[in-house]
Amino acid sequence: IVGEGASAKVTATLPSGESVEVLLYGATVTSWKSNGGKTENLFLSEAAAVDGSKAVRGGIPVVFPVFGPPPKSGHATSALPQHGFARTSRWEYLGKSSSEDALDGNSVKLDFGLYTSGLSEDARKAWPFDFGLVYSITLAKDSLQTVINVRNEGENSFEFQFLLHTYLKVQDISKVAVNGLLGVQYVDKVLNASTHTESNSSVTISGEVDRVYSSIPQDTTSVLEDGKPRYDVVRDNLQDTVVWNPWIEKANSIGDFQPKDGYKNMVCIEVGAVNGWQKLEKGEVFEGGQVIKSLL
Ligand code: BG6
Repeated sequence: IVGEGASAKVTATLPSGESVEVLLYGATVTSWKSNGGKTENLFLSEAAAVDGSKAVRGGIPVVFPVFGPPPKSGHATSALPQHGFARTSRWEYLGKSSSEDALDGNSVKLDFGLYTSGLSEDARKAWPFDFGLVYSITLAKDSLQTVINVRNEGENSFEFQFLLHTYLKVQDISKVAVNGLLGVQYVDKVLNASTHTESNSSVTISGEVDRVYSSIPQDTTSVLEDGKPRYDVVRDNLQDTVVWNPWIEKANSIGDFQPKDGYKNMVCIEVGAVNGWQKLEKGEVFEGGQVIKSLL
């Protein structure tokens, strides 16, 4: 652990130079470098708070137990803030394990935990369930895997949503294409939450985009830049993906989004389980995550 208090973070580096940096606050991955450490793959706003004062604008915030604004009333998450409490809670560092594999090369896994006991009083009151989250981040030569394990440790069942709000870094959004969503239904939050079916095999971005694609049959969403593969985002036991870019006006309205033209250098590909609710009975466990491959 490097640093103290709310800005404490855990870092890991492979012998070949690749690295990852995780803030204990939110267990937020704030940097992931591949290509021998030469290529940063995550966008992090220059004005992102990395001192635990608010959710990090960039990297990979963890969204749990509700995605977006919670249902106005009548749901157990209704008193929670947008995107829940995981991204604004301080997680415990559970430890590091390394492995060497002749075929796959070196990798290092970092584990983080968040339990009911680690929540602020406000969060505990707003969502009074006993749970345990273990979040595992595995750095390999050309990939980063992030997996959540959710366990119901109480007597009562609970419902939740989960999402990995990954800000992928790109050179130029006008040259980006997102593939692997053809034929998938989505809710367009920019167009009054209307429902559509994706008719493009390559989705391009030339304005504000905020779409929730759900029940995606394909495992992989690919990001291309200039026609060349840049990232593959592979879902594991998660069926939904949000594609988000705030574009000019929205970026201007987000205080901690800097530089203001930074929207040109990012696209959020957010895998999750956000269509309806995942339900866990006493003692039950849910596991889901992603592998992001950097293809440079
Ligand atoms: C996305 C949502 O996941 O997150 C957007 O679909 C939202 O609607 C964006 O604007 C950023 O959310 P926040 O709370 O980090 O500003």
